[in-house]
Amino acid sequence: MKVLSVISSPRGAASNSIKLANAIIEKLQAANPAATVVVKDLTQTPFPHLEESHLNAFFTPAEKHSEENKMAIRHSNEAIQQLMEADVLVIGAPMYNFGISSTLKAWIDHICRAGITFRYTANGPEGLVKGKKVYVAVATGGVYSGDLQAMDFVAPYLKTVLGFIGITDVAFVKAEGFAMSGLQDTALETAINSIVL
Ligand SMILES: Cc1cc2nc3c(=O)[nH]c(=O)nc-3n(C[C@H](O)[C@H](O)[C@H](O)COP(=O)(O)O)c2cc1C
Repeated sequence: MKVLSVISSPRGAASNSIKLANAIIEKLQAANPAATVVVKDLTQTPFPHLEESHLNAFFTPAEKHSEENKMAIRHSNEAIQQLMEADVLVIGAPMYNFGISSTLKAWIDHICRAGITFRYTANGPEGLVKGKKVYVAVATGGVYSGDLQAMDFVAPYLKTVLGFIGITDVAFVKAEGFAMSGLQDTALETAINSIVL
């Protein structure tokens, strides 16, 4: 089993989403001792926002790529290769302003490629990334699993966009309430105890 750990919090050892993601990885390793883990820390080598040069490269067939196209598309190609090589992804996702961080969004913008990770068919779009399992470790200051569910754009967005590229087996583990005095001390432990592989 090859695990790809995608980190998007810049808070390192203090990060709740990283701690939760690592707890998921520990459980995966306990259940699969031969599992290998590749860590992609998006905060150390951030993916660029999509610029004209990236879009030009995305929509030019590979055999016609100029040197400029090749330079522009290298981040995307590397990210897609890493994604394709993994059996399991563990994505750490802090909630920023009700959605995912722009750091994580930039990575997503580089892995969603027409003709590579999805394609358009007569019956609509088809995801081409098959057979992956994803665990998303979400950390939030508030609590969104109750009355405020409609304000959570992390889980619905990730479920939609991952499903779009063919990844439909997505489990969310949520650590909620880090900004709430009654919950912040127990939020991580509660979330770790809720992990089901
Ligand atoms: C820039 C920023 C924006 C945030 N926006 C929200 C938010 O909209 N809703 C929320 O519940 N928590 C919000 N938080 C709190 C974080 O989700 C929480 O601190 C979480 O633990 C961050 O993940 P990390 O510990 O992995 O860095 C925000 C935190 C930061 C730094």
